[in-house]
Amino acid sequence: MHYSSTAVVLAALSAVAASEKTCLNQTVPVTISARNGNFSLAAPTNNIDAAAFVQNLSRQGQNYSSAVLNGYNTVSGTYNISTQFCYDNARSGVNVPLQILTHGIGFDKTYWDLPYNNYNYSYVNAALAAGYSTLSYDRLGIGNSSHGDAVNEIQSFLEVAALRALTTQLRSGSFPGVAQKFSKIIHAGHSFGSIQSYTFANLYPDETDGLVLTGFSLNATYNAFFLAGGNFQLASLNAPLRFGSAAAGDVQKLQLASAYLQALDLDVDVGLLSSDGAAATPQDLPAGYLVTGDTSANQYNFFLPGFFDAGLLAQSERTKMPVTVGELLTLGSVSPVNAFKGPVLVITGSGDLPFCGGDCLTTGTKYPSIPATVALSFPNVAPENFTAYIQPNAGHGLNAHYNATGAYRYVSEWLKDRGLGA
Ligand SMILES: *[C@@H]1O[C@H](CO)[C@@H](O)[C@H](O)[C@H]1NC(C)=O
Ligand SMILES: *[C@@H]1O[C@H](CO)[C@@H](O)[C@H](O)[C@H]1NC(C)=O
Ligand SMILES: *[C@@H]1O[C@H](CO)[C@@H](O)[C@H](O)[C@H]1NC(C)=O
Ligand SMILES: *[C@@H]1O[C@H](CO)[C@@H](O)[C@H](O)[C@H]1NC(C)=O
Ligand SMILES: *[C@@H]1O[C@H](CO)[C@@H](O)[C@H](O)[C@H]1NC(C)=O
Ligand SMILES: *[C@@H]1O[C@H](CO)[C@@H](O)[C@H](O)[C@H]1NC(C)=O
Ligand SMILES: *[C@@H]1O[C@H](CO)[C@@H](O)[C@H](O)[C@H]1NC(C)=O
Ligand SMILES: *[C@@H]1O[C@H](CO)[C@@H](O)[C@H](O)[C@H]1NC(C)=O
Ligand SMILES: *[C@@H]1O[C@H](CO)[C@@H](O)[C@H](O)[C@H]1NC(C)=O
Ligand SMILES: *[C@@H]1O[C@H](CO)[C@@H](O)[C@H](O)[C@H]1NC(C)=O
Repeated sequence: MHYSSTAVVLAALSAVAASEKTCLNQTVPVTISARNGNFSLAAPTNNIDAAAFVQNLSRQGQNYSSAVLNGYNTVSGTYNISTQFCYDNARSGVNVPLQILTHGIGFDKTYWDLPYNNYNYSYVNAALAAGYSTLSYDRLGIGNSSHGDAVNEIQSFLEVAALRALTTQLRSGSFPGVAQKFSKIIHAGHSFGSIQSYTFANLYPDETDGLVLTGFSLNATYNAFFLAGGNFQLASLNAPLRFGSAAAGDVQKLQLASAYLQALDLDVDVGLLSSDGAAATPQDLPAGYLVTGDTSANQYNFFLPGFFDAGLLAQSERTKMPVTVGELLTLGSVSPVNAFKGPVLVITGSGDLPFCGGDCLTTGTKYPSIPATVALSFPNVAPENFTAYIQPNAGHGLNAHYNATGAYRYVSEWLKDRGLGA
């Protein structure tokens, strides 16, 4: 619905009793094309090969992506993207700014709207309260979006094309069920989602108005910590009820086994047993989809001890999401110089593991923090429009720490100060 004048807008607003979060969940088809890497690599089909792949990728002194790269290939298709569009009822029809939220490895779109503890960790709720609408989505290949070949199809390049297609639909008013053309769009990401938002802004600098890069830096030194610490295994073997191909009878047996072990109150890891967050039938993921091995691996990569609720770690493990080998091989395909000219906020937890090696503030260089060096990659951004902020007492999974809402407040105030507020 579109209103023609401010007076009508105010009248319409006062007619609405109270702010209320409303979300539209739907699967949106996108027709996209990208220049993907052609990697000469057989997708791992067992845990020996899954570990061997990580050993290859994390070996010092070589670039495994480049060693197995055999040129590039154009990949095209129509894919389904599972989305959640949220808005505040009291602002329906008003041209509010939109935030497009891209999750990282290990999560899906629920990272931005964590239901844990009655949603008191929800980034979406904080964004709505600050006057934004939001679009979160399962990245192509992950969660309820289309899956695909784990080596040469589901890669960062094709996922950025999907992000662009969603952005274009929302700008032009063709996004299904949302009769609105958004003229101010901020791209916020977490981790791999920040990498993709960064790349999107570089390729299409006129198609975003601002970047919020959470859990991010451009220092690849500690990527191997993440790979090693993840204890990655084949998703279909690690969590068969969620990602395997178990027949209905086997699913029932595993559920009975799960109930039995839980009744004994043993401290068993939940991967094998959990069916949360996936369809009622296991997703039957193909070879080359990996997942972090267990709760401790999840903790090592994403959580800073002392600053998270153990129940939320357990919830993250039950709902953990996979990563493809093609994603891991294209993670580092990032331009060192970005063409974007608008506001850029990097906000990373002080104890971030993959991008800071567990400590963003010990640099041994003239820079105050590791993320601060991201400024060098944005030569076209005015100094007052770039900030690298270190969120205290948080690890890589920024949204899952006690003071997550403190970080959200920082983000919305920063955007407002740069003319990107509601
Ligand atoms: C949308 O999906 C989320 C899970 O991603 C769920 O919690 C919520 O209830 C759904 N909302 C509607 C309106 O279906
Ligand atoms: C991709 O690489 C393989 C070797 O791994 C090669 O046989 C094939 O021709 C390449 N495909 C394209 C389209 O370049
Ligand atoms: C690991 O690299 C070696 C060569 O260095 C190769 O023979 C092997 O197939 C690779 N394994 C995986 C799973 O990537
Ligand atoms: C997308 O989803 C629709 C229905 O939900 C299904 O009919 C269609 O085959 C799916 N397309 C792809 C490319 O998976
Ligand atoms: C959520 O609630 C818990 C317990 O009530 C509290 O300790 C924590 O600080 C809250 N977290 C956020 C992000 O508000
Ligand atoms: C994915 O789909 C399943 C089954 O339809 C649903 O239970 C689950 O909440 C969905 N998850 C997300 C993140 O959309
Ligand atoms: C490794 O090689 C890939 C593919 O050539 C390239 O995109 C990437 O930047 C390289 N990574 C590093 C750290 O040099
Ligand atoms: C900072 O960003 C805002 C919002 O895009 C823009 O209006 C302003 O001109 C920028 N400042 C400078 C000095 O470029
Ligand atoms: C990454 O950060 C560490 C710690 O500040 C620093 O020693 C190293 O030089 C950085 N690497 C790059 C490529 O910037
Ligand atoms: C919570 O986060 C905000 C924003 O970074 C910060 O100002 C505040 O000091 C933090 N509080 C604690 C207890 O860490």
